[in-house]
Amino acid sequence: MTKKIKTEEMNIPGHVAIIMDGNGRWAKKRLLPRTAGHAQGARVAEQICDDAWDLGIKYLTIYAFSTENWKRSEEEVGMLMNLLRKYMLSSLEKCAKNNVRVRVIGDKTRLAEDLRKSISELEESTKENTGLNFTIAINYGGRDEIVRAVKKLAKDVKNNSLDIDGIDEDVFNSYLDTAEMPYPDLMIRTSGELRSSNFLPWQIAYSEFYFTDVLWPDFDKKELIKAIEYYNQRDRRFGGVK
Ligand code: IPE
Ligand code: IPE
Ligand code: MG
Repeated sequence: MTKKIKTEEMNIPGHVAIIMDGNGRWAKKRLLPRTAGHAQGARVAEQICDDAWDLGIKYLTIYAFSTENWKRSEEEVGMLMNLLRKYMLSSLEKCAKNNVRVRVIGDKTRLAEDLRKSISELEESTKENTGLNFTIAINYGGRDEIVRAVKKLAKDVKNNSLDIDGIDEDVFNSYLDTAEMPYPDLMIRTSGELRSSNFLPWQIAYSEFYFTDVLWPDFDKKELIKAIEYYNQRDRRFGGVK
């Protein structure tokens, strides 16, 4: 009860970005294959969407597959892609019911055609939804995103639709995959690793970071509330003086 009142009084971050890490270690602890950790991790990700919205979070962005994750075994990569396939297909109805808008960021060109097709179907069918803005980073790498943005921008300069002197932070930002989204207020990483692993480097420049030892498959609403409590203790100065 006390907790509930506290959550209601909390300053809720508008955009929370999560590096969901520790699926493999969770499985290893249970003598299960890494893929079992990913399956549980996927269930947790779906639940966290509901929990985030309950708490008043408007934007939730999760790191599902990095540009570096292709280095993993074919079996593991295949299983992760299948989980994403399953999510895209099974979410059509659920997102319609819950008013969730889904976006996928990352370089989609390297994804299988059927997956790309179900991603665009889900993005298209949820684009008018006004509830949670749920973004999944797939084959996402921040450096790759910046290079892709620079290429698009350079093309626009070359064809005279963009003036070099007109390039500022807002213009550059508009070339990123996250163009329409606000910057994350809070970045959470599970599993005890203290690094950002190429997740949203431009966008998290002024985000607050919350690191927890909890492994992603064990993460739940209680843990999310802890992260928000931590966020509430931060004094965000953005370079100014308070
Ligand atoms: C995060 O869990 C999921 C992905 C990176 C896709 P990991 O698979 O990285 O789990 P650990 O870090 O090996 O425990
Ligand atoms: C980051 O986790 C990528 C995702 C959560 C999708 P990793 O497990 O791949 O990152 P590193 O290798 O520990 O930096
Ligand atoms: Mg990991």
